[in-house]
Amino acid sequence: MKILLISDVISPVIYSSNLRDDPRFKNIDLVIGTGDLPFDYYDFIASNLNVPLLHVFGNHVLMEDEKKPSFINLDNRVKITHRTIIAGFEGSKRYNRGRHQYSEAEMKFKILKMIPRLIWNRIIHGRYLDILVTHAPPYGFGIPTDPAHQGFKIFLKFIERFKPKYVIHGHIHIYDSNRYRINEYKGAKIINAYNYRILEI
Ligand SMILES: [Fe+2]
Repeated sequence: MKILLISDVISPVIYSSNLRDDPRFKNIDLVIGTGDLPFDYYDFIASNLNVPLLHVFGNHVLMEDEKKPSFINLDNRVKITHRTIIAGFEGSKRYNRGRHQYSEAEMKFKILKMIPRLIWNRIIHGRYLDILVTHAPPYGFGIPTDPAHQGFKIFLKFIERFKPKYVIHGHIHIYDSNRYRINEYKGAKIINAYNYRILEI
């Protein structure tokens, strides 16, 4: 399966009249957006590539987008597509009174609610999930000194317990090189989807 990951910034390479003919984006099966992007951009990609789009909201969401039912919102949900089990949690660590922000305890509660479904997956499919999609990174994969960008410690526990193969997040902008784009934690590949990236699994 070839997945286009997008996050945080609109890429001129993608938001281009050439998208359909660009060989880099041939045979994409699925688009995953990890947040802080306008739905107009999602619309453009999903209709040009003619593929389903799964997403979680980031901490920056346009008011008009919150009300739109378009696309598949993965927050608190588990979706199975191409025999791949994908689950998601939206938002960032709380740093002001804005929406789509959570304390560690609130995020833990969201995870607790998903556990019965993950156990069901384990019984039926032999594994809890394959891909975890979040906006904020697991703690240690963000910016430790910045409360808004340090990420969630509970995601580390989630990875240890439920063993996703991939964790795809956004929220952390990459300005210099690809150095921090892919990391590993307890056997899971931690991928920062910032801008765009193609994942083949
Ligand atoms: Fe963000």
